[in-house]
Amino acid sequence: MWSWSASPPEDLPAFKRLLGDGSQYGVSFDFAVQNAPNGLAEAFLIVEKFINGKKVALILGDNIFHGVGLDKHLQSIDLNNGATIFAYRVADPERYGVVEFSLEGKVISIEEKPTKPKSQFAVPGLYFYDENVVEIAKTIKPSARGELEITAVNENYLHKGMLTTKILERGTTWLDTGSIQSLHAASAYVQIIEERQGSKISCLEEIAWRNGWISDSDNLDISKDYRSSPFAEYLAGLLVQ
Ligand code: G1P
Repeated sequence: MWSWSASPPEDLPAFKRLLGDGSQYGVSFDFAVQNAPNGLAEAFLIVEKFINGKKVALILGDNIFHGVGLDKHLQSIDLNNGATIFAYRVADPERYGVVEFSLEGKVISIEEKPTKPKSQFAVPGLYFYDENVVEIAKTIKPSARGELEITAVNENYLHKGMLTTKILERGTTWLDTGSIQSLHAASAYVQIIEERQGSKISCLEEIAWRNGWISDSDNLDISKDYRSSPFAEYLAGLLVQ
């Protein structure tokens, strides 16, 4: 598996230090710089040569997804044609891309941060695209806020009848950490669940180990790097459960 991350130039060293080249998780990471906040759709232009005609997933670094069966749900997505996005009911849809559904449940429109949202269904920052996404991104013009909007890419697929929108059920948690308040709320959520269950949310080493990308002994070696910390105990403890 291979993935890339586009980040502002000044943040790149921190991302590289945190994530490395992915080999410790049995995967491969590459990094690219977005020099200015020109919008999400610019990511496809920046990493065109990495994508190289393949299908692609885009996830926003400030979005958190958590829920039973979410991994299976995502793995079941048919990537053969078009784009797949999600819709999630929120109390404050005006902060997001908003999906409007017909009575039959078909998507009629998607609007970016509308002042009068046509539904309460926001589009979370997780998107799957076919190999046409780069060419589509090249046709997008900057919006009123000066960004190449991902919503414009999704509208393009919608108008071609190539957009699948799946509802993320209320049992799934989607958090956006783009404001101080929402970052604090996400932090409290993770702390409560982790402390109550004694298991970690999105522990990369655990995910790699459970998927068989790294072996038992790799996991043990990593745990030793963390010496006698609670995190080392957690990783080593996975092997004896
Ligand atoms: C972006 C997208 C928006 C989406 C949101 C999800 O918003 O433009 O459509 O609903 O991410 O977090 P932004 O982070 O640019 O405000």
